[in-house]
Amino acid sequence: GLEISKLLKETEQVTLDTGFVNTASCVSSITYIDGDQGILRYRGYPIEQLAERSSFLETSYLLIHGELPTSQQLAEFTDRIQHHTLLHEELRRFFDGFPRDAHPMAVLSSAVSALSTFYQDSLNPFDDEQVEISTIRLMAKVPTIASYAYKKAIGQPMLYPDNSLGYVENFLRMTFGVPATPYEIDPVVVKVLDMLLLLHADHEQNCSTSTVRLVGSSQANLFASVSAGVNALFGPLHGGANQAVLEMLQHIQSDGGDVSAFVRKVKNKEDGVRLMGFGHRVYKNYDPRAALVKKAAQDVLGRMAKPDPLLDLAMELEEIALADDFFVSRKLYPNVDFYTGLIYKAMGFPTTMFTVLFALGRLPGWIAQWREMIKDPDTKIGRPRQVYIGYGQRDYAPIAGR
Ligand code: ACO
Repeated sequence: GLEISKLLKETEQVTLDTGFVNTASCVSSITYIDGDQGILRYRGYPIEQLAERSSFLETSYLLIHGELPTSQQLAEFTDRIQHHTLLHEELRRFFDGFPRDAHPMAVLSSAVSALSTFYQDSLNPFDDEQVEISTIRLMAKVPTIASYAYKKAIGQPMLYPDNSLGYVENFLRMTFGVPATPYEIDPVVVKVLDMLLLLHADHEQNCSTSTVRLVGSSQANLFASVSAGVNALFGPLHGGANQAVLEMLQHIQSDGGDVSAFVRKVKNKEDGVRLMGFGHRVYKNYDPRAALVKKAAQDVLGRMAKPDPLLDLAMELEEIALADDFFVSRKLYPNVDFYTGLIYKAMGFPTTMFTVLFALGRLPGWIAQWREMIKDPDTKIGRPRQVYIGYGQRDYAPIAGR
């Protein structure tokens, strides 16, 4: 047998921390989280203040450049983004090749990766102007790519961006608009979606952001690094959780709506089933974003003529879990994604688009963190060590004798 303790002794000065539970990978001055007290701040500003008073683009500027913009700086930032929303026609043709039932996250990561092929003039990570233009291109083009991924899936023609519209309005029109038909934009939907993007904008060294930094630490360009981040976000334990929550609620509903029975299943760990949208690696008290999202869910769903019964189911689930020792003792509380799916559904997005919306929101955080990493003189290529537990040396055996 293998003697792991002996191997560990033989491996000099290596810390084994699977999942990086207690290992910092960098120093950063972008986002502060206090998981015990449920505090989240971007560049020092509490998330609650930004959610109430700022906008997604203003907060993006704050994350990327470190300070809130003056009105002139914000106008210029917005204007530059609005004028880079078009996709190269040849990139648009990429969408013809994807199968219609492709997951839009897979389409998004591929198209973002392809930006490296179209914008070879802005791939140098050490040229500030090139980094700036790729920042603008990403902020501008990712919503267009996301809308096209959706249009492709439903078989509708793609709409060119309308640069006279605001960031969120333009995205909504490209997603839900139909050519030659006026599209009415609901200002409440715009406001809530803008806030949801803002709430997702950064969350320090989470899985996708760490991926962006790790890929970037090899000096890979911003497009390549961000497309890796999109792929990391795809997983159900990260960005994919918002889709998984809605599917869980629909499953409970189709099973007769017995919330207690579902909770029992989770507690018994039957088939490894988890309460999706609950729990967080860092927040062990509550996720401050979840409270803001819950309020928004009640606002948006409350305006509907026929409120979604899944909201009641979600609230019942939350109530039962928060009163149950299994969840309390493990410090499991709703995270940001427990209620977002319900809002996205009410806005008309199919479940497969939920994680794409998370990616739209997280984009400025990925960019800000990549830029901080590339400027940090202490950055080294990310290269974790391991504790080897395989065989010692053994001799090759000819195939006939195996
Ligand atoms: N439902 C049921 N039990 C859970 C849940 C959950 N959602 N989350 C954690 N637990 C239990 C685990 O089974 C474990 O119990 P045990 O000690 O009896 O084995 C204990 O709580 C600790 O769980 P870990 O998996 O060690 O916690 P970790 O910090 O690694 O995981 C994670 C965090 C991945 C978010 C986890 O809570 C989870 O899977 N949640 C559901 C998926 C989800 O909502 N992800 C979104 C995260 S937020 C985001 O990306 C925006």
